[in-house]
Amino acid sequence: MDTLYREEILEHYKFPRNRGCLPHPDITYKDTNPLCGDEVQIDLSVKEGKIAEVKFQAKGCAISQAATSMLTDMIEGKSLEEIKKLGKKEILEVLGIELGPVRLKCALLCLKVLKSGVYGIKEWPT
Ligand code: FES
Repeated sequence: MDTLYREEILEHYKFPRNRGCLPHPDITYKDTNPLCGDEVQIDLSVKEGKIAEVKFQAKGCAISQAATSMLTDMIEGKSLEEIKKLGKKEILEVLGIELGPVRLKCALLCLKVLKSGVYGIKEWPT
């Protein structure tokens, strides 16, 4: 299976960016992939409506972990409005490989977690 992954996906899987948790996140959200039970949690610190810091914890396959690592790299400094506009296309672009329906759920779990967290926020610190 590893031969199907691009080198960058493996790199993110082996050396994930932003792994961990924030002590006092402004937003935190966790969800699971219903097909396998794997989990992703994303913590965000928000300043003036923008992502100041992001950390994640994930239990899951290489695709879900690499996609989460890549997503967290992508969102630092972005506004919450920009996050709301992120879609499947952006995740698939950074992964750069074709995915079947099962693997697609793995790849998109992080986006679901991120957007659920961001949409759940009622107000944020300025
Ligand atoms: Fe569980 Fe991919 S197999 S997230």
